[in-house]
Amino acid sequence: MTRLADPPAPAARPLDSIHGFAAAKATGRKLVMVTAYDAWSARLLAATPVDCLLVGDSAMMVVHGEADTLGATPDIMALHTRAVARGAPRTFIVADMPFLSARRGPGAALDCAAGLLRAGAHAVKIEGARGHLDVVRHLVESGIPVMGHLGLTPQRVHVLGGYKVQARSAADGDRLREDAAALAAAGVFALVLECIPRELAAEVTAALAIPTIGIGAGPGCDGQVLVLHDLLGLNPGFRPRFVRQWADGAALVGRGVARFAAAVRRGTFPADKESF
Ligand code: KIV
Repeated sequence: MTRLADPPAPAARPLDSIHGFAAAKATGRKLVMVTAYDAWSARLLAATPVDCLLVGDSAMMVVHGEADTLGATPDIMALHTRAVARGAPRTFIVADMPFLSARRGPGAALDCAAGLLRAGAHAVKIEGARGHLDVVRHLVESGIPVMGHLGLTPQRVHVLGGYKVQARSAADGDRLREDAAALAAAGVFALVLECIPRELAAEVTAALAIPTIGIGAGPGCDGQVLVLHDLLGLNPGFRPRFVRQWADGAALVGRGVARFAAAVRRGTFPADKESF
């Protein structure tokens, strides 16, 4: 039976609480966040210099093969979060509140967030601001750290008309500035800015006391987040402008599995030392 080995030693000085995010902003140290959806990748990531793992609802697209993130439920997010927490028990974990979970009032949102924290998250991320600032406030006042998310908010894909750069007009830029200030006032400890013009992201970053973490929002944010599969080249054919690929993961998988298949067909695997 294959089982996970013990978790590795933590990377140097990982963030151990939301206070580390504030300290990073104060010192100008850039924050690094990467998605994780399972124990295996979380375990590998825990041994790298990432600050924080995001159990994103992008899991629905990246590992479940769906067209959007709308299929995520509190139970699915809790399942992925529990797996990540098992693989990276000493790493700071943020879990996404799934589609509509912040829109059914503070009580329902609190139940969902509690489930994610009980599964091992240290904080939750909520997309958008308008119409659920009371929910954000309620969670924060209940002792649940909340990360905000503005700009391209994928749970609203059908209103946005696709995965497009947001807040390009002056009016939309003003709206985003207002939402960012409102979320900060409601108590979020950090804010993801997704796919907005770099100037706007830099301006919001300079205006806020909390750190911003960008994805497709330019270099002026206090940190960056990417989907692990994108940065490792494990999602061939998906190459939006904001992604840089630091490894050719798909080729690595292809080569490794082809070598396995060839060894099986040549009869050289398993060898004596691999047999009982
Ligand atoms: O679900 C996700 O992976 C995210 C990031 C892209 C920010 O929300």
